[in-house]
Amino acid sequence: MSDRSFGSELPSIEVRPPGPASRALARRLAAVESRNVTYADDAWPVFWESARGANVRDADGNLYLDLTGAFGVALLGHGHPAVREAVRSQAEALVHGMGDVHPPAVKVRLMERLRDAMPWKGARTVLSTTGSEAVETALKTAALATGRTGVLAFQGAYHGLTLGSLAVTDRPLFRAPFSPRLYPGVAFAPFPDPTRDGAGAATGSLEAVHAALERGAPNGDPIGAVIVEPVQGRAGARVAPDGFMSRLSSLARGAGALVIADEVFTGLGRCGAMLASERVGLTPDLVCLGKALGGGIPISACIGRGPVMDAWPESGGEAIHTSTFLGHPLGCAAALAVLDTVESEGVAGRAKRLGGTLVASLRRSLSGLRCVRDVRGLGLMIGIELGEDDDRTPRAGAAARVARAALEEGVLVLPAGEHGHVVELTPPVELSEEQLAFGVRTLARAVREAA
Ligand SMILES: Cc1ncc(COP(=O)(O)O)c(C=O)c1O
Repeated sequence: MSDRSFGSELPSIEVRPPGPASRALARRLAAVESRNVTYADDAWPVFWESARGANVRDADGNLYLDLTGAFGVALLGHGHPAVREAVRSQAEALVHGMGDVHPPAVKVRLMERLRDAMPWKGARTVLSTTGSEAVETALKTAALATGRTGVLAFQGAYHGLTLGSLAVTDRPLFRAPFSPRLYPGVAFAPFPDPTRDGAGAATGSLEAVHAALERGAPNGDPIGAVIVEPVQGRAGARVAPDGFMSRLSSLARGAGALVIADEVFTGLGRCGAMLASERVGLTPDLVCLGKALGGGIPISACIGRGPVMDAWPESGGEAIHTSTFLGHPLGCAAALAVLDTVESEGVAGRAKRLGGTLVASLRRSLSGLRCVRDVRGLGLMIGIELGEDDDRTPRAGAAARVARAALEEGVLVLPAGEHGHVVELTPPVELSEEQLAFGVRTLARAVREAA
């Protein structure tokens, strides 16, 4: 294999993963990292050494096809040349600036670019480093702009794990140990799931939304923000029925609440449009971006309509919401390269087409398998939902079994869904026809044998 083709290769497994080098690293890691962070056993994980395009190479020399895009970050492919060049030349000039005091010049260019990419004129941005922080910014902004701290979020939502974002994340595993620390002014409405709830899914959910907007949060706080993922990512690529998001936007607006689109996972072309909101009919006041924004360099953004963002008081010398790495030059330079590439390489259109092909091909290969309840997605956010024979019960833990079986054959996917019953695919847009076909064949076999 030449290095030139690294990125567009099919998998090549030299030693059964995890090989000896990965297993040795897992032992060393277990001795130094908090035991909560990296799960390891005889069959998981592999340690990455290098990556390009849709390929990852591990410490044992195994070469994988990455259909995770590394949590969706590598939308353009791992180590996209434009991102590497932008980071290299920025690092020559300025590695770190003083975000909110003496800002790096490149920060201005990025924020102008983000303003122009938004659906409204005069957008303003607060930069940060992680998706969770962008969500924190959006929640604070909405509270300032409306004077109401209550939030409406959705069952199954994932918005991050910092205390503010965890309060609007709906996963008992993550919440339970910290429940006394979580803000209680959050109402959770059902996310409409036609696979589970049939044709009435949207109506039931909108009724719950309406009631919560009228009544306020469980602790009585009036609701000032509705936060929603245009497609629920970590819940397993859950796509709401047509028309739901536009009705949600109208209900929120009618009740004087702001709409926060958490596009950390869905944004920047992954779902077939610059913002997935456009495709699903959501009309946000605030947009959160992260993951793919830096092409692998950590950077995130909360972008809002000008008048909404102007609820923040003018700085009198101290910003009341900032952080050391706000507007980090390497992140800003990388994000500019990503935004340019998303536009110049028509990433949204390609993601839409490739996602359509991938879903159709998975449906064909998985048809007839009783445990496959649904193959769905929007653009390159795709889920294979696995269920028990009764057609109602999620097949708990099945997606992890599929992910392990696929790993052995050199294909990386992740489990998603509250019950670990959805195999999630969020691949790079740089996926060749051969890679796509290989991925589908391998997944079909893994689902048949391991689910
Ligand atoms: C929709 C969504 N919002 C927020 C986050 C949190 O981002 P981060 O892990 O960068 O804090 C995630 C992460 O998966 C996400 O999927």
